[in-house]
Amino acid sequence: MKKIIIGSDHGGFEKKEEVKKILGNMHIEIFDVGTFEGENPVDYPDIAQNIATEISQGKSSYGILLCGSGIGMSIVANKFPSVRAALCYSKEAARLSRAHNDANILVLPGRLPLEDELEDIVKTWLDTDFEEGRHLRRIKKIKNIEKERDLS
Ligand code: RB5
Repeated sequence: MKKIIIGSDHGGFEKKEEVKKILGNMHIEIFDVGTFEGENPVDYPDIAQNIATEISQGKSSYGILLCGSGIGMSIVANKFPSVRAALCYSKEAARLSRAHNDANILVLPGRLPLEDELEDIVKTWLDTDFEEGRHLRRIKKIKNIEKERDLS
């Protein structure tokens, strides 16, 4: 069973609570780093840095991040070595991000519409395994880029 580290800014707070219910129903262990209410603005880079550091250092295997659009969280999280954060608006994007990209952070928009039910997107992301094969070769190339640029 996967343990999920989850976080959002104020723009993603409400949807984060919905995602937590979905994970709870799946009996998945959740570690919520906040924010814990949606009234007071918090800066998405702080939350993304917190979760991306955990993933990058191998302290957690999978994370979920939410902000208004999902874009800010994606930009920040993908600056961390070994983090592959995927902004997914649909079930198919969620499936591909796991099967082809071995995404370790699912990013969701709190304020923009999804193409599929939130539950379907989250469950698909959690239930899809990395296909390896040619996709592993491509992930290794990403790691090489990180090494070449001295990011790891
Ligand atoms: C916050 O207003 C908003 O900018 C943030 O949630 C996010 O959408 C940034 O990308």
